[in-house]
Amino acid sequence: MNANGSERGNWTKLGFIFAATGSAIGLGNIWKFPYITYENNGGAFVLVYLICIAAIGLPIMIAEMILGRKSQRNAVGAFKAVGGGKWKIVGGLGVITGFVLLSYYSVVAGWTLEYFIKSVTGAFDGMDESEVGKLFGDFLKNPVKQISWHAVFMGLTIIIVAGGIVKGIQRITKILMPVLFIIMAILLIQSVFSEGFGQALTFLFRPNFSELTLGSVLEAVGHSFFTLSLGMGAIITYGSYMTDKDSIPKSAIIVCGLDTFVALMACMIIYPIIFTFKISPESMTKSAGILFSTLPIHFLNMPGGFLFGPLFFILVAFAALTSTISLLEVVVAYFIDELGWRRVQATIGLGIVIFVLGIFSALSNGAVPALSSFNLIGKSSTAGFFNTLDYLVSNWLLPVGGFFIAVFVGWRLQVAVKDEEYYKGEKTFLNYRAWNFLIKFVAPVAVAIIIIAVIFGREF
Ligand code: PHE
Repeated sequence: MNANGSERGNWTKLGFIFAATGSAIGLGNIWKFPYITYENNGGAFVLVYLICIAAIGLPIMIAEMILGRKSQRNAVGAFKAVGGGKWKIVGGLGVITGFVLLSYYSVVAGWTLEYFIKSVTGAFDGMDESEVGKLFGDFLKNPVKQISWHAVFMGLTIIIVAGGIVKGIQRITKILMPVLFIIMAILLIQSVFSEGFGQALTFLFRPNFSELTLGSVLEAVGHSFFTLSLGMGAIITYGSYMTDKDSIPKSAIIVCGLDTFVALMACMIIYPIIFTFKISPESMTKSAGILFSTLPIHFLNMPGGFLFGPLFFILVAFAALTSTISLLEVVVAYFIDELGWRRVQATIGLGIVIFVLGIFSALSNGAVPALSSFNLIGKSSTAGFFNTLDYLVSNWLLPVGGFFIAVFVGWRLQVAVKDEEYYKGEKTFLNYRAWNFLIKFVAPVAVAIIIIAVIFGREF
């Protein structure tokens, strides 16, 4: 029961793992990771990214789960419940971040639905690369389509979150996550037999440290937050519905492991297409390029592509949906726990407000010139309302949130609380002392370095 007497609910068996993995796996894995890895020349970047996941992401994920399960509260309430006083501001920052992140994430998620329909109906048939590119450009400029798909995606998200933890989120993630893994496996088998697979593996796993720049290291740190849904209370919120039967370190290891696995799988599916069809590097370096303006044509040209194209886009849509529901849940849980709102009303009301904010992003990729040229930060990569929000979230809000969560759990939270939460459920190979060292020293110092680097003008 919470303060206003309503039942919060708890995950049942494996529910947390499905939901948290669903939150972590999303556009970050399937769209962003392959794209930034390509830009950073693979190999060494991948290695640094893996180290970031293990040394920064994993300990912070455990910290968020501890805060959530101990308090059984939303991101703000969690800090209050464990005597955090002013630290609740960190949770408040998380709720705001979730709000903003969802508003533009849903826009890109909507694109995957349009591309699913397009690939099913054969809209790309007979087109060449430049025509597919133009189609994407025209789609971005079409205000009705941009807003409609964003509305559809927010609508789906609202319906699921309104259903609550067990009947909504858990039920849908338990279906979608296995489906996602099956689709990935089919696509992977197909790609193993394609010509460029060997080249893709070499690119991904052969480190060439001479190509590694400080900028790449910073990018890897920032992306590890985004991809694991850390730094804004999503895992605090999901962790608050965890029971004592689950082991926190074990769950965190599984979620981080699956998230990383999917990011690497996505590269192994996408890169062979690039290498087999010798896609020009220019088309790769445009931000949204790889997924929407290059791949459709190559799915068309490959054996069985009429099947793999739609499968791929529906896979991305599923992955995005299990992430958007976690973003909305962060905001909704705050209004339910702290302000006493009812779930259905909170979900619909807040979902609509987020949808409205998202309209500005939806129209800022070419549809409305004033929004497309909006540039608060003034860098070329931040042109447009959409890119400005993404820059603020990825480069500032998530790392700053993650830093404070690490400092709070590492230095302020009582040792007895941490110790107790850490060892409920089964034990794992990552022992308490190792985690404690990572959360107290390694994670905050590494994150502080990125924040300082950003302040001194490094793009990442
Ligand atoms: N982890 C999600 C992805 O990789 C994005 C996300 C970030 C979701 C933060 C929830 C919270 O796409």
